[in-house]
Amino acid sequence: MEATTIHTAVREHYGELARTSNSCCATGSSTLYDENLIQAVPTEVSGFSLGCGDPITLAKLKPGETVLDLGSGGGLDCFLAARQVGATGRAIGVDMTPDMLAKARSNAERLKVANVEFREGYLEALPVEDQSVDVVISNCVINLSPDKVQVFREVFRVLKPDGRVAVSDIVTNGVLPEAVQKSMEAWGACVAGALDQRDYVRGLQAAGFVNVQVQPKGQTDRALASLPIGVPFSATITATKPNGTLAVDPLVIPLEVEPAQATAGKFDQLLGQVDALDTFDNGYDLRVKGDVATIRALVDELSAAASCCSPLSFNVVESADGVHVRITNNAASQPTTTATTGCCN
Ligand SMILES: C[S@@+](CC[C@H](N)C(=O)[O-])C[C@H]1O[C@@H](n2cnc3c(N)ncnc32)[C@H](O)[C@@H]1O
Repeated sequence: MEATTIHTAVREHYGELARTSNSCCATGSSTLYDENLIQAVPTEVSGFSLGCGDPITLAKLKPGETVLDLGSGGGLDCFLAARQVGATGRAIGVDMTPDMLAKARSNAERLKVANVEFREGYLEALPVEDQSVDVVISNCVINLSPDKVQVFREVFRVLKPDGRVAVSDIVTNGVLPEAVQKSMEAWGACVAGALDQRDYVRGLQAAGFVNVQVQPKGQTDRALASLPIGVPFSATITATKPNGTLAVDPLVIPLEVEPAQATAGKFDQLLGQVDALDTFDNGYDLRVKGDVATIRALVDELSAAASCCSPLSFNVVESADGVHVRITNNAASQPTTTATTGCCN
């Protein structure tokens, strides 16, 4: 389906909701947020939540941080974030629907929140400077984008090194029925565009993120997540942008350790501890933070999980400047090695 068709349908849907103040994806904020978090917000504002979770608690915001909310709607998450980051921090909401922006701005005036601003724009082309944001939050919006790969790239671009992602969203475990995927009503209701949870992880990794985690939100969501068919459920999504020293081509490593999910998780853990990186002919030399025994144990687990299917081999080397993990891509020098083992079939 054309991206503009989806943007137009979604904008009309949420424009109408902003004008009539109904709710789509959620039953209201009272079921999403802890009482203590929203009690200071007047119910006319806190009652207008179209989210599916609580990215504020997930984000663990600190005073002075700059927070960006993707698809800020009536602004509730921005107001909660603005309060937590305090006068030295700020919250920026981006939304493509003019009626939502008008509602959020009038709420900001009513609440007299000074450290918040709402900008008109698309998730796929964020009106935000490179490396200017500490935390990206979002509540039930990324599923509505027709181009999630571009959204993940944009989130990576605007985050500072070490910046983090704390998102609530709808995902699936398996492919949704085609009729649902094509239904404009189902797009507006945060269902049709829901990504498979594995694609969410891969998409964020491919954009360059590490420590990527997608977790079902609650007990019901855990039950739905265990069904191997396309049923939407609410999830929390977290990820970190590595700091500047980790210049790995993000597509190269994480995808090579597939298909073992367990391996990919351990790989994320390893990448999260890297503080310097060099390349050699067919591999990477990672200098890793932490003690050598723990790093060896992690690498042993990684090697065991990856040994059958992966073309990668791992070596731990202690040297004067710290512990290094050398990752060699054997497929790069012997392209047929893994194909002839047959173990992955
Ligand atoms: C389900 S509502 C969630 C609103 C808000 N996050 C909340 O929790 O109440 C989705 C919001 O995202 C906006 N939106 C959807 N797709 C977008 C896109 N591609 N770019 C910018 N905004 C988008 C809509 O206009 C709408 O305000």
